[in-house]
Amino acid sequence: MRIGILTSGGDSPGMNDAIYAVVKTCYKRGIECYGIYNGYRGLVRNQIAPLSLEDVHGIESKGGTILRSARLPEFKEVEVRQKAVENLKANGIDALVVVGGDGSYMGALRLTEMGINCIGLPGTIDNDIASTDFTIGFFTCTETIQKGIELVKDTARSHSRCIVIETMGNKCGDLALFGAISCGVDAVITREHPIDEEELFARLTKKREKNPDAYAIVVISEKNPDCQLNDLVEKIKQNTPFGQHVRGTSLGFVQRGGNPCTFDRIMAIRMGVRAVELLVEGKGGRCVGLRKNAIVDYDIVEALSKERHVDPDIARLADILMYNSKEL
Ligand code: F6P
Repeated sequence: MRIGILTSGGDSPGMNDAIYAVVKTCYKRGIECYGIYNGYRGLVRNQIAPLSLEDVHGIESKGGTILRSARLPEFKEVEVRQKAVENLKANGIDALVVVGGDGSYMGALRLTEMGINCIGLPGTIDNDIASTDFTIGFFTCTETIQKGIELVKDTARSHSRCIVIETMGNKCGDLALFGAISCGVDAVITREHPIDEEELFARLTKKREKNPDAYAIVVISEKNPDCQLNDLVEKIKQNTPFGQHVRGTSLGFVQRGGNPCTFDRIMAIRMGVRAVELLVEGKGGRCVGLRKNAIVDYDIVEALSKERHVDPDIARLADILMYNSKEL
């Protein structure tokens, strides 16, 4: 048997651990393992090469992905996928592990339908995949966000400013929510955890009225049509005593980098091992996830039909920790 592996979509810390686990598990079982470079784009361009134990030596501690990554919207087209299948067959690859987000799962499903068994692993910092409690890279990213918020706090405090910090997350607010809860900020606003603007202004006003040197931190998630960074900065300037002392900053791509934390490493390794086991059992069209600390797998069709909801327990923490204006 010959198994291929690719990483697709935005890279995430821990992808290398999944690759490491797949290569090592294959080796243990006498299976040849092949790396596909640059995601589905590399699959279509036949950028495929054997992966040896030496190739993965030491990668478990490194951020990014040694296989590199790409986005290929054209993979939706059957002719493009046909080329991918031809390349897999020409390289004698029977089955594939795909590490990526929802879009990558769809590609894995389509390839399975075309006769190549595929297993999806949730590799994205965004934590926006419904079929797992956590995605590979999410916790490393929250630590980076935490660090970012703390750095911004130092300057906000020194200048008595209100600074609005925008996190990544695509359409999912978990990165903002977890980062904000772990850093003692004044407010967090995401699609799933909106707050009334008047309440936000009242909260910031009260804080500044109590202490004219007070600083404030507001964390928001990206891609929220109801709350965008520059708009919010302007509104806080106009509606609170912070006036011109308001700034906005986006944490940007630093959030995708960094060496994976222990949780991401172990979870990615557990998932990588399971992916190979499922392929050996002849299964395809499935994705692996973590549920209540157990490694599980679901049919990809079922997984893609699930809607992701914010964990109510986590959202509740934000409400408990961040006082509203009446309580201040
Ligand atoms: O990988 C997910 C993600 O980092 C999102 O959080 C972000 O919105 C997006 O990717 C950025 O994509 P790109 O790298 O294509 O600009």
